[in-house]
Amino acid sequence: MATTDKDTKANKGGSKGKVVLAYSGGLDTSVMVPWIKEKYDLDVVTFTVDLGEVRDLDRVKKKALATGAVDAVTMDARALFVDHFVFPALMAGALYEGKYPLATALGRPLIAKLMVDAARDHGAVAVAHGCTGKGNDQVRFDVTFQTLAPDLKVIAPVREWKMTRDDALEYATKHNIPVEATVKSPYSLDINLFGRSCEAGVLEDPWTEPPEEAFGWTVSPAKAPDKPAEITIDFEGGRPTALDGKPIDGVNLLETLNKLGGEHGIGRIDHVENRLVGIKSRELYEAPAAVILHTAHRELESICLSKQAQRFKTMVSQEYADLVYNGLWFSGFHQDLAAFVASNQRFVGGQVRLKLFKGQAIVVGRKSEHSLYSHKLATYERGDQFDHEAAKGFIRLWGLSQQTQAQTQLLKDGRGFALPGLTGPK
Ligand code: ARG
Repeated sequence: MATTDKDTKANKGGSKGKVVLAYSGGLDTSVMVPWIKEKYDLDVVTFTVDLGEVRDLDRVKKKALATGAVDAVTMDARALFVDHFVFPALMAGALYEGKYPLATALGRPLIAKLMVDAARDHGAVAVAHGCTGKGNDQVRFDVTFQTLAPDLKVIAPVREWKMTRDDALEYATKHNIPVEATVKSPYSLDINLFGRSCEAGVLEDPWTEPPEEAFGWTVSPAKAPDKPAEITIDFEGGRPTALDGKPIDGVNLLETLNKLGGEHGIGRIDHVENRLVGIKSRELYEAPAAVILHTAHRELESICLSKQAQRFKTMVSQEYADLVYNGLWFSGFHQDLAAFVASNQRFVGGQVRLKLFKGQAIVVGRKSEHSLYSHKLATYERGDQFDHEAAKGFIRLWGLSQQTQAQTQLLKDGRGFALPGLTGPK
């Protein structure tokens, strides 16, 4: 899968070894190639992985080599990402603070792990990334490096250099780095198959409504079609397996749902979130596939899981989301939670029918061969097998302890139940 190009001309004069740099081909990571060479005397091997951000890997590789990298590794890891990172998080119901489906947070540990592999393949002594000193991504990268390969030095140029965009442009020109004449977006974006995140610019004021230009994947719900799209998603063991009755692989499923959901304005999430580094930040996410899949999955759980399993799962979901967000993917605790999730999800199979309509993924039907929904117990019509008589005795005992306490401690003469902080009729 990985392809490499040797180019030894940048290697003249010797060096202290190699560094594997997470490389996008943008201005910052391009400037890092000569900057790291100058500052650390390390030869740069660039590493670019596609997790679903549509980009031309060949072009990125050519640019890396033209910029002075001694080697440029590129890799399509979309299937790995979906099968081993996205779907486990979906099964776990992991939404950070109940909102963010964790696209970026799920991508980082995979990228970092693949970089460690590349560092081993190339006998590198260091790894490097372009994260700032203010975000979560640096934590996810560094913690993963430190966990999997504590011997590797970690270089994060943006945390060290004090370059403005103009400085970077000047540096690029001085070092003959090809600079594309792109208008700098006022936002900081990160994209993979599970979602698009957008921050900074006018979004830094949490009172300001996100302007339409900040969205890239979704139409405004107001402009979405008047006719809903109807889809059916199949799950087995908590994983999606088919769309509209046809088996589909994870990558195709996410691409299809992102496009279809986006056309219906689904998946816009405006979130003031608590970063690990102690600040609140306002993030704008677009995650049509994630929202549709989480909605469908949760709904299927409502018929496939027992009441207790469903309740306990919400706690696991929260813990799982936190550990992913906080960069602890490669932890034993993650394995523990995943073991619970795997067991908890073994009967989560069946179909969910949804309508995609003006910004909403609306579940209109669900069924499963493992369904705990029993028509003969639920019905009010003929065929009802629920034991109405038994309810009476059950209620007597259910209310017994409350009755005892209220009569002994809480009520005076059977009257005047008080709630703290409220003064009511005596
Ligand atoms: N706030 C999100 C997170 O912590 C998204 C970060 C996006 N990263 C970026 N470099 N723009 O996962």
